[in-house]
Amino acid sequence: MTTTDETVQIDPDALMAFVFRAVDEVGAALNCALVVMGDRLGYYRSLAEHGPTTPAELAERTATDVHYAREWLNAQAAGAFIGYEPETGRYALSPEQAVALSDESSPAFLPGLFQIAHGTMRDTPAILEAARAGAGYGWHQHNSDVHVGCERFFRPGYLANLVEAWLPALDGVVDKLHRGGRVVDIGCGHGASTILMAQAFPDSSFVGSDYHLESIDTAKERAREAGVGGRIRFETVDAAAVDGAGYDLVTMFDCLHDMGDPVGAARRVREVIADDGTWMIVEPAAGDRVEDNFNPVGRTYYGFSTLLCTPASLSQEVGLALGTQAGPARIREVVETAGFSRFRLAAQTPFNNVYEVRP
Ligand SMILES: C[S@@+](CC[C@H](N)C(=O)[O-])C[C@H]1O[C@@H](n2cnc3c(N)ncnc32)[C@H](O)[C@@H]1O
Repeated sequence: MTTTDETVQIDPDALMAFVFRAVDEVGAALNCALVVMGDRLGYYRSLAEHGPTTPAELAERTATDVHYAREWLNAQAAGAFIGYEPETGRYALSPEQAVALSDESSPAFLPGLFQIAHGTMRDTPAILEAARAGAGYGWHQHNSDVHVGCERFFRPGYLANLVEAWLPALDGVVDKLHRGGRVVDIGCGHGASTILMAQAFPDSSFVGSDYHLESIDTAKERAREAGVGGRIRFETVDAAAVDGAGYDLVTMFDCLHDMGDPVGAARRVREVIADDGTWMIVEPAAGDRVEDNFNPVGRTYYGFSTLLCTPASLSQEVGLALGTQAGPARIREVVETAGFSRFRLAAQTPFNNVYEVRP
């Protein structure tokens, strides 16, 4: 033991263990940019398609410089994101890595998560200013990697769960949608969830709503590309002023905690929902106590909460700042304050809690 003053004793082994853990974190932080690089330059897709590959082959196939391809491959192999065969000098993805890093339709697809993280980190200078000033920083103020990364991160989970598991977990909703129900998807962003529901329920009518004009423009484009452009009406409006009445299903996907006034939004939902309607709230997976969220998913979400979601809420009227890790108790409080009487956790995945709320 060495002593720095009379009371604090430093254990050199514990100190070095922490330093090396932190070095690993720096490697992981740099890997965020490297994953975005591999996704954008087509490195992962090329490796998935061609199998064991040399740096020269990767460079040739992706029309990139071999020096970058080589160092990227080494960094990926050192971080166990790809494998390396010293005997042949070739690098390869395992089947699982190939799915997680190159298959956008898999619920395990990862590059979207890295893209939103990378975009979020690039806006950190503005967040530091906001923290000093006690101000917010709106969703609309971020660079487009935040918006596109969000869509690419969440969409695979919605694709795997929304129609197959989450909607069936709600009492009577699937039957209503098959018969022809009225749905509004609030805070729809690029419309991934709205489009999936419109594709699954051709007899129902859909509204996609978000306060961010550019997101709604992209959502319209995505709906056109998906062949459901004529069946979804998109509107640019704050959640607290959503249009219409008598909705059978109101949905909010990963957005309630981003809102400045979630109680105001919930009051508006209470006004526009049918008396026997259902409000499905999909929120990031979280427990009620801070320590419930001390796990890899909770850690990631607290990071987003600090740099993205809490500033977004603080940028709006009220600025309640629920945080990305508001657990079931906080969400229940919001909806009950707004006049809803029934609330239950209807489904869960490693990334999401799905709540059923009824008038
Ligand atoms: C994390 S993104 C989720 C987007 C989309 N629901 C998804 O799952 O991909 C949060 C969304 O909430 C929207 N939003 C934030 N505050 C809002 C408000 N007060 N009214 C309407 N939309 C809001 C943002 O513009 C953004 O599109």
